[in-house]
Amino acid sequence: MIEVRKLKKTYGDRTVIDDVSVRFEKGQVVSLIGPSGGGKSTLLRCLNGLEDFQGGEIHIGGEVLHPGGAVRNKRALLALRRKVGMVFQQWNLFAHRTAVGNIIEAPVHVKGVSIEAATRRAKELLDRVGLSHRATAYPHEMSGGEQQRVAIARALAMDPEALLLDEPTSALDPERVGEVLDVMRTLAGDGLTMLVVTHEMKFARDVSHRTLVLHGGTILEDGPSQEVIENPRHERTKAFLGHARG
Ligand SMILES: Nc1ncnc2c1ncn2[C@@H]1O[C@H](COP(=O)(O)OP(=O)(O)OP(=O)(O)O)[C@@H](O)[C@H]1O
Ligand SMILES: [Mg+2]
Repeated sequence: MIEVRKLKKTYGDRTVIDDVSVRFEKGQVVSLIGPSGGGKSTLLRCLNGLEDFQGGEIHIGGEVLHPGGAVRNKRALLALRRKVGMVFQQWNLFAHRTAVGNIIEAPVHVKGVSIEAATRRAKELLDRVGLSHRATAYPHEMSGGEQQRVAIARALAMDPEALLLDEPTSALDPERVGEVLDVMRTLAGDGLTMLVVTHEMKFARDVSHRTLVLHGGTILEDGPSQEVIENPRHERTKAFLGHARG
């Protein structure tokens, strides 16, 4: 369970998250959608402790984050690294390590898992993302979609309580988007808690249980995905969805 209470985030005198309160239940797959600059990435980054904030609190993975950044939240941030996985638009794999090498990095160095056990698990995870045949491939030998699937396997290797994904398919060639969405669909089916910033309305509607629309640092809509996407209440959402549908 993740709970955000009265979260406020500012850059100088600009408020980019404005008093947001929201709860995410275990096993829920939630899409965060909305126009550019609405605060989607900032919210995820606050949840993952990558960004300090000015007001409110965040309960995540049994830890509590308060304003004050690394100084005030040192212990919670360390614990969070083990409990929450993050996948970005750009996968940022280690260029000089193979797929397996990338996946075992954190379990071995952060959790102290043996190389043998971590490698066994890495191979299972590669199988889960449909890449068992690419275990020894280096990032430059893989397509963007394959690299992103390795990045997802890498995040899963820490057995996260939740996976946060920020536009995981938007840097991919259109024909590669489907394979990453398929992996996310499988993970959703397995009951993994996921928060996904996405522009893939079909994924949001058909796979995520719940969709939030962020605009101007506030949650404009929040409800079952199909309802939010097919019957949005606000004009601003209608305009955004009309545009997103192209
Ligand atoms: N480091 C920063 N310094 C100042 N302003 C920032 C910074 N990072 C983000 N912002 C501002 O915060 C607001 C929210 O940005 P955010 O990246 O969360 O939007 P987003 O919803 O993810 O947009 P997009 O769909 O374009 O990725 C924007 O107005 C942005 O300009
Ligand atoms: Mg963003």
